[in-house]
Amino acid sequence: MSEKVVIKVNDNGSLRITGDVELVDGEGNVFEKKKSFSLCRCGQSENKPFCDGTHRKIGFESAPRVK
Ligand code: FES
Repeated sequence: MSEKVVIKVNDNGSLRITGDVELVDGEGNVFEKKKSFSLCRCGQSENKPFCDGTHRKIGFESAPRVK
């Protein structure tokens, strides 16, 4: 049985993915498989689709909450 996948929207930062999930590109090729990784949400990473910490340097602000 697969474990539950959780996507956490980090305040002012990335999307943290944990669980048994595949991340594929536009052609269906699988990125390196990991149990957890962070996706860029600010659009400024030099290592897209992954977060490289640039959001801190540019002062990215976004902290959405469930309403
Ligand atoms: S969210 Fe971290 S570099 Fe974009």
